[in-house]
Amino acid sequence: MESPDRQAGIRRARQRVEERYGAWTNHNLALGAAEYTVGPAPTGADWKLRRYLQMVADLKIKPWEDLRVLDLACLEGLYGIELALQGARVVAIEGREANLAKAQFAATTLGLGDRYEGRLEDVRSLSPERHGTFDVVLCLGILYHLDAPDVFDFLRQVGAVCQHLLLVDTQLAPAPVISVADQGQTYWGRWHDERDDTAHFGRPAEVLWSSLDNDRSFWFTRPSLWRFLEGTGFTSIWESHGPAVPRYEVMRRQEGSDRATFVAIKGKPVATKASPLPQTLPAGWDEIEDLSLSSP
Ligand SMILES: C[S@@+](CC[C@H](N)C(=O)[O-])C[C@H]1O[C@@H](n2cnc3c(N)ncnc32)[C@H](O)[C@@H]1O
Repeated sequence: MESPDRQAGIRRARQRVEERYGAWTNHNLALGAAEYTVGPAPTGADWKLRRYLQMVADLKIKPWEDLRVLDLACLEGLYGIELALQGARVVAIEGREANLAKAQFAATTLGLGDRYEGRLEDVRSLSPERHGTFDVVLCLGILYHLDAPDVFDFLRQVGAVCQHLLLVDTQLAPAPVISVADQGQTYWGRWHDERDDTAHFGRPAEVLWSSLDNDRSFWFTRPSLWRFLEGTGFTSIWESHGPAVPRYEVMRRQEGSDRATFVAIKGKPVATKASPLPQTLPAGWDEIEDLSLSSP
């Protein structure tokens, strides 16, 4: 139980951060007994936090203390800070100072010390040489803010730094509208105009969630994203249906948008023994050209 003096100190420090960088926009962290960064009622981020934590806890193959985690485009730090509180070592990359300052403040207030390292960087600079490798990579809410070809280069680097578990939470193109070529492959999706976000939301909070400098982003269709992930060395890819994030279901049914959480595992390809034929099949499929391949 924190002393009233310590609680008052946390409140004053949080207020100083807000005076300098504005109010917290999304990530709700409990900083002390009654002190939240957003407020004491659950927010949309709380549903996601429960999902992501459970996925990592269920699928990690090392104890928390041995786990190295990368949180890409961390916003106000909630998901990476959670994993650091569980015992992992976390590197968090974020391109906006106002967001990273809040993440770093929360991590320090929660006593994470050198278990949490925030870096003010563009995720498009990601590389194993610069950042090392990680057991778990969180790629949450960032893919759909990158343009082509950056999004392809970025995902290749994600594949290069990730040694085991990748969580991807992203908007998707519900149908293939345009195609983009990358390294001899064709990927399907749609363009998203980042300026629509500002026009639509019209509040500074959402601007702090958007792309750094690109006006346009590429949104993959599901099969194209799966195919790209397979091509970068992920051997299994699943979609999460629980713990639930009901907002995604509402978006899909009522708003016609498609958002999902995937987990991809960097395993070792296994050769079949019952028949050699599976080894002759192509990796992934092109949803436009290869529909005829979906035989029973
Ligand atoms: C929609 S928010 C999602 C953040 C968080 N991962 C989450 O799931 O709640 C997108 C975040 O990406 C950051 N961002 C956008 N483009 C970036 C880039 N190229 N490099 C680093 N951060 C970026 C934004 O500042 C914002 O914090």
